Amino acid sequence: MCKLVIEGGRPLQGTIDIQGAKNAALPVLAACVLCESPCVIHNCPGLLDVDASCKILKHLGCRVKKEKGTVTVDPTNVAECSIPDALMREMRSSIVFLGAIAARLGQARISFPGGCELGPRPIDLHLAALRKLGLVINEGHGFLDCHCTGRLHGETIALSFPSVGATENILLAAVTAEGLTTIINAAREPEIADLASFLNRCGAKIRGAGESVVEIEGVDALHGSEHRVIPDRIVATTYMTAAAVTGGELELRGVQHTHLSPVVPVFLEAGCAIRADKENLFLRAAHSLHPLRCVRTMPYPGFPTDAQAPVMAMSTLAEGNSLFVENIFENRYKHVPELVRMGASIKLEGKVAVVEGVRALFGAPVVAADLRGGAALVVAGLAAEGTTEVTGLHHIDRGYTSIEQDLASVGARIRRVSSAE
Ligand code: UD1
Repeated sequence: MCKLVIEGGRPLQGTIDIQGAKNAALPVLAACVLCESPCVIHNCPGLLDVDASCKILKHLGCRVKKEKGTVTVDPTNVAECSIPDALMREMRSSIVFLGAIAARLGQARISFPGGCELGPRPIDLHLAALRKLGLVINEGHGFLDCHCTGRLHGETIALSFPSVGATENILLAAVTAEGLTTIINAAREPEIADLASFLNRCGAKIRGAGESVVEIEGVDALHGSEHRVIPDRIVATTYMTAAAVTGGELELRGVQHTHLSPVVPVFLEAGCAIRADKENLFLRAAHSLHPLRCVRTMPYPGFPTDAQAPVMAMSTLAEGNSLFVENIFENRYKHVPELVRMGASIKLEGKVAVVEGVRALFGAPVVAADLRGGAALVVAGLAAEGTTEVTGLHHIDRGYTSIEQDLASVGARIRRVSSAE
């Protein structure tokens, strides 16, 4: 078992290159299943979930080659329609393969994804939408057995909530369906627009991706193409909180600053200075951090739930009270008791957290219970007096390709050690 050992109190200074977005790479890799010739996907982050996607693609019959950040997928001979339970369990978001497999092969068999660290993760919206497109889905014994006779057919689908995963599954199922599919109340996250731009380059006809109403005109078949995955806006936000909480200044290279518009106002409210051009963002910390009136997590372009934990870590050292409301996931405050161990003052009441800024945090042994909550503990550790030891690193490693190298390269005292040391 490994841990991150952090000696806090050093302002970060320098430049970090931002990795490709995990949440964009995964659906793009699933989309390769739909193509009838090879695809080349650049800027894939080196993460276990990307490896798990490659394993699923191989199991389905694709030839897959991974060289640094580039994954080449030859889906010409896709023939297998099932994903074994063990592979499904490696990555909860493997549900996004369902629409693609069903559309390509007319049938699919995958195990039912269970809950996860963030609480129950229902897939009712995915299933209702796919059924509307003509997929027959039988649920039982922990599996989803799906088939359709002939092609799926276009439909109007109104989502009761703009679910990211459901929107992706509908896109994947509808691009080769017969006729027009319209998604109303689609998720507007940049990862959706990225998936659609890849699919369009493969011959799909999608209009409006990134907006609330998306139209998909079904085409007969897709061909392979080349694509570069967008930068990871949540990794960028995490490093912004790290700079802000340590009184440092960082340049983040290779970001899409428009994707960061939902988080920038929070950093400005905290008193940080931000300068951005198309691909770089520079942040200089405030002299003293101001409190945040109210951070409400919302679907994009609202404040992202994935950024709630790191931003909360930053606010623990603000001069006053900050308020958070978590509207997306039920169980997304697992970092709170760990931050409290480090000296933070936080009160929780259902989906609301009140953070009373303290003068200092103190290093402590803490455990990451989920991906972004774990990153928040690292952020807190960078600002804390003394030594913080973060365990539960398998969570953090699901989203950050090189968190300790990135942070060490800008002056943090952070190292990964095996617990035996
Ligand atoms: C994706 C992201 C995740 C991010 C989330 C919200 C990936 C791999 N993961 O997750 O990092 O935190 O978007 O921005 O891209 N819901 C239902 N029924 C459904 C589907 C969702 O009730 O069928 C609910 C969920 O329980 C949750 C909310 O809708 O409360 C948001 O979920 P969704 O947008 O689907 O998130 P994911 O795609 O799972």
